[in-house]
Amino acid sequence: SAAGKAGHDHYMHKEIHEQPNALRQAISGRIDELTGNASLDIDLDERYLQAVDEIHIVACGTSYHAGLYAKELLEPLVDLTVRVDLASEYEVYDGFDSRRTLVVAVTQSGETADTLSAIRRAKAPGMTTLAVTNTVGSTITREVDDSLFIKAGPEIGVAATKTFVSQVTALALFTIYLGRLRGTISAGDGADILENIRRLPNAVQSILDAEPNIKRLAKQYVDSDAFFFIGRGLAYPVALESALKLKEISYAHAEGFAAGELKHGPLALVTKNTPVLAFLSESASPDETFNNVKEVESRGAPVIGLSTSDGTESFCKHTIDIPSLGRLEPLVANVALQLFAYHVANEMGRPIDKPRNLAKSVTVE
Ligand code: G6P
Repeated sequence: SAAGKAGHDHYMHKEIHEQPNALRQAISGRIDELTGNASLDIDLDERYLQAVDEIHIVACGTSYHAGLYAKELLEPLVDLTVRVDLASEYEVYDGFDSRRTLVVAVTQSGETADTLSAIRRAKAPGMTTLAVTNTVGSTITREVDDSLFIKAGPEIGVAATKTFVSQVTALALFTIYLGRLRGTISAGDGADILENIRRLPNAVQSILDAEPNIKRLAKQYVDSDAFFFIGRGLAYPVALESALKLKEISYAHAEGFAAGELKHGPLALVTKNTPVLAFLSESASPDETFNNVKEVESRGAPVIGLSTSDGTESFCKHTIDIPSLGRLEPLVANVALQLFAYHVANEMGRPIDKPRNLAKSVTVE
């Protein structure tokens, strides 16, 4: 109903704009900058969590991309190996210690059949399981050992927006929680990351305030042959997610690539009719990615750079400014590209909240 959309043309647009508040909710009561600690109501045994040496993250779709982002946070900050699997591809082999492996299912709905089935496969040899979910009382919460709620509020648009940002934020808090517990993150480093998490809602708001600029770019490039998104490190999962968002709601050809992989194949697709959206923020190896920007520009592709303004962006045809926010910069950049996807699809007149062939939650394998 129009009332449900609170004046927005689509739920997706409303949910994009709800993100600063959704994040405030996700963070509320969970940050202690004095001790550099995240307080999450996790009941898993602390000694078990200190001894874990491997995490398997299982998820589908957008939640899989949140899992990939979490790996980039966890591996350098917490001393363990993180494997991220598409839930439908997850297989449990002999040869690792099931008592020292934690399986984390990331699922907004808590009802995705592929993810539920992956969790059941993990439980058979006795692995401990944690769900990161938006839905209290969902099927997954009844099957796992413990749940971490992302507190994003209900999401109605089929394309996940605020739940992605809240999943990554909850997983960033979880990273701090684990790192402090295991002694791999100092109080000072914990406080620094928490400060960025605390600043996240306002940073996202600054992107929402730039919507007219992003809408103009969407209009300018709506008739493109394809859209490519490139990023490194923390920005690689966001490149994948931004491409998924655009293809889901606009039906345009969109793909995300690790920036360094362009030259190993995708460069063959680049023409003057394929805009390239490049993540150039400070925390995503902007100098290396800038070399890839030059590669595509020399083939005539228009580049939209998402940048924290370190100078490289002046070489891009267009730029979208991203506030400085350490490891969370790519997450903020993602919000700009949610808006880009929305306005491209809207310009095309697509049924944005209910794209053809897709469902909000898929309960068949
Ligand atoms: C469906 C939705 C996607 C979502 C995926 C996983 O395919 O269309 O937007 O990312 O399921 O959903 P989940 O509820 O497990 O996060």
